[in-house]
Amino acid sequence: MKKQINVGVIGLGGRGRGLLNTILGLENIQVLAVCDLFEDRCQKGVEAVEKATGKTPFSTENYKEILAMPEIEAIIVPASWADHVHIAVDSMKAGKYVGIEVGGAYSIDECWELVRTHEETGVPCMMLENCNYGQKELMALNMVKKGVFGEVVHCQGGYHHDLRKSLTYGRENRHYRQANYMHRNCENYPTHELGPIAKILDINRGNRMLSLVSMASKARGLKEYAKREKGEDDYASNFDYAQGDIVTTIIKCAHGETITLTLDTTLPRA
Ligand SMILES: NC(=O)c1ccc[n+]([C@@H]2O[C@H](COP(=O)([O-])OP(=O)(O)OC[C@H]3O[C@@H](n4cnc5c(N)ncnc54)[C@H](O)[C@@H]3O)[C@@H](O)[C@H]2O)c1
Repeated sequence: MKKQINVGVIGLGGRGRGLLNTILGLENIQVLAVCDLFEDRCQKGVEAVEKATGKTPFSTENYKEILAMPEIEAIIVPASWADHVHIAVDSMKAGKYVGIEVGGAYSIDECWELVRTHEETGVPCMMLENCNYGQKELMALNMVKKGVFGEVVHCQGGYHHDLRKSLTYGRENRHYRQANYMHRNCENYPTHELGPIAKILDINRGNRMLSLVSMASKARGLKEYAKREKGEDDYASNFDYAQGDIVTTIIKCAHGETITLTLDTTLPRA
């Protein structure tokens, strides 16, 4: 087994800094380079590496400089959703193993771009869907495999997470997700629940998803929250958000199972 893997981390927002600290706690991995579009976030990344290792990593606002480093073998991409695919494609073309955070792609064309680039280059690319490895999810998978539930006919998953605060302060916090809720309307975050379900239903291991229907409710939660928390005159209180409050998706699988997913991020909790 190889003694050390040299990695670069691209994207140093909340998740990037958390992942960086996790990586810095692992043996056999050395962070040689960090990158973010914001200089202050690069600096925080540099400080985290220095604190953990005593060494100063290369730091840049242009990720292509990291891809050009021959000593870098793998790239971790906790960048904004819209940036995952092009960074992953460029990384594979540069011969670097790549792990992208969840969020993934914005279109089916982008998904195929990932597949084609992997096939052309032979370089692995993995989506870092951590919920597949959660204790409860692995327990459920194990119970299914042992037949505790009998034959599974239906799975249900959801992303039930009140994001109203971070979404209405997106501009102030320089967070990409607010713009998504302003301009897109879709099931924008399915992989936390769909990853574990796909394992339970053997998707791409003999089974596959055939078709889906997805519907969004009207959008009310963010505007109401912004008016209350930020006042009537704030930009966030006067925007007609595209993203519906609840998105329900039904998927049909080749072996006859159905899956329902719920995106629920902009309404108050009970
Ligand atoms: N797996 C999980 O449990 C989990 C939890 C939180 C977030 N995430 C995922 O992590 C990713 C980041 O989320 P976040 O909340 O940290 O967002 P964030 O906005 O705080 O951070 C994203 C960072 O990426 C940087 N970035 C974007 N494009 C870049 C580029 N081309 N080059 C360099 N840097 C670039 C931005 O400047 C920003 O600092 C998202 O995909 C999110 O879905 C996953």
